[in-house]
Amino acid sequence: MNKENLTKELNVYLANLNILYIKLHNYHWNVSGLGFFELHTQFENFYTQVSLDLDTVAERLLTIGERPSASMKEYFEIATMEEKSSEAISSKESVESVIKDFRFMLDSSNGILKIAEQLRDLPTTDMMTQFIANYEKTLWMLNAYTA
Ligand SMILES: [Fe+2]
Repeated sequence: MNKENLTKELNVYLANLNILYIKLHNYHWNVSGLGFFELHTQFENFYTQVSLDLDTVAERLLTIGERPSASMKEYFEIATMEEKSSEAISSKESVESVIKDFRFMLDSSNGILKIAEQLRDLPTTDMMTQFIANYEKTLWMLNAYTA
């Protein structure tokens, strides 16, 4: 693993966060059924956090001398997360879908953490560790909500 592997993966991660940002708006707008009010609000909390995270990742890329992808065209080319179509979604389905998305981001975070550790890139390791902690905690809460 070299620095190029890391920056490539960070750009894919950034693209996925941008897809997730829109996807969470999709849930925020299109969720319907019981639990609407709390889920509508919670999905807003999630996309607000994602908007902070994607900025953190982009600025880390700049800090290590790389240019972050910054166009939707590039994001679609490199993203590995899939979008969701614009239609009504039940509360249950929306929560299950968010759980899937966050597990996906958790796995990606663990993958990047391993590369950053190998390269002894402590700030990137630290950034990923914080993301992992957030995804793990949020997944605990979402799982508790659906239990
Ligand atoms: Fe809104």
